[in-house]
Amino acid sequence: SKATVVFGGPSAEHDISILTGLQAERVLSRAGLEVQCLYWARSEDFHLVPNGTEARDYLGGPPASAKKLELRIGADKGDGFYLPGMRAKKLDVGTVLSTLHGGAGESGGAQALFAMLGVPATGGTLAAAALGMDKLAFGGVMASAGVPTLDRQLLSADHAPGFEGPYIIKPRFGGSSIGIEVVDDLETARALLSTSPHLREGAVVEPNRPDLFDLNVSVRTAPTLAVSDVERPLRPSDGAIYDYSAKYLHTEGLASAPREFPADISDDLRGRIQELARRVVELTGLTGVLRIDFLSDGTEVFVNEVNSIPGALALYLWPDTTPAEVLKSALAEAETLPPRAT
Ligand code: DAL
Ligand code: MG
Repeated sequence: SKATVVFGGPSAEHDISILTGLQAERVLSRAGLEVQCLYWARSEDFHLVPNGTEARDYLGGPPASAKKLELRIGADKGDGFYLPGMRAKKLDVGTVLSTLHGGAGESGGAQALFAMLGVPATGGTLAAAALGMDKLAFGGVMASAGVPTLDRQLLSADHAPGFEGPYIIKPRFGGSSIGIEVVDDLETARALLSTSPHLREGAVVEPNRPDLFDLNVSVRTAPTLAVSDVERPLRPSDGAIYDYSAKYLHTEGLASAPREFPADISDDLRGRIQELARRVVELTGLTGVLRIDFLSDGTEVFVNEVNSIPGALALYLWPDTTPAEVLKSALAEAETLPPRAT
């Protein structure tokens, strides 16, 4: 059946999503699948773009080859995306492979849209996606289930966190390390609430622990639940990825950040991380191909966050499975889950 890769989206991670989307398109079309590209522009319009576009084609807005679609919602209007014209033609979407990062694309908005259109889509249910994008709610669910996390609290003008600085401040609903700041004191942290454009929807505060490093795994929920080996990103280079310099204008950009894989850690730590990853999936109810991020000092480990639609769809964490197989399993799983808004 047909797959439609959806990318872009109204989000600070719009550009990274283009890289993930174009990579997924290549993987599926090289594997002989019928695939088409749906670009959600910053203007919030949807466009059908031909296969084979490159990231640089999106620098000044939708590529010249893009066809703007009309979105119709309402049973009497014939729910769907339409190619406008004298005789408007409804687009056969098939199953959506969502490669939207951040914003409405990853936090449930897109799920609601596709559910209203009756289109099966990867990326989890609205409720699971929303929980995964909300750093405060996610941290609370983990903590209440006894999953080890760093202390994470709402940054507010009135409430003081129960720990000392330095603090790490993160957008409550953000991704790709955009808008993250390390500050020494609460006064500076609170000032950010009014000065940082990334914290408008809220911020969380955690103790800054420079002794901790990142360790990540991918989890796939189809065809059966599987956890990948552990990677250690050697430098958080999200900033560099997001920089739209020529250096990163290639579709393999997301997987080219320096990393140690498998991470050189003890088998005990590896096992505990993989066990915790399963628990995170169970507690959030997320499906598809996820990446779960941990922080560790080599002995202790804390769950940091879950990415329901990770960069490059975490395909590089599955060296023993072809990227096409990983994507096909996710699409097949989405087809078995009826489109629904929650
Ligand atoms: N939000 C980015 C894309 C990631 O976590 O991979
Ligand atoms: Mg993230």
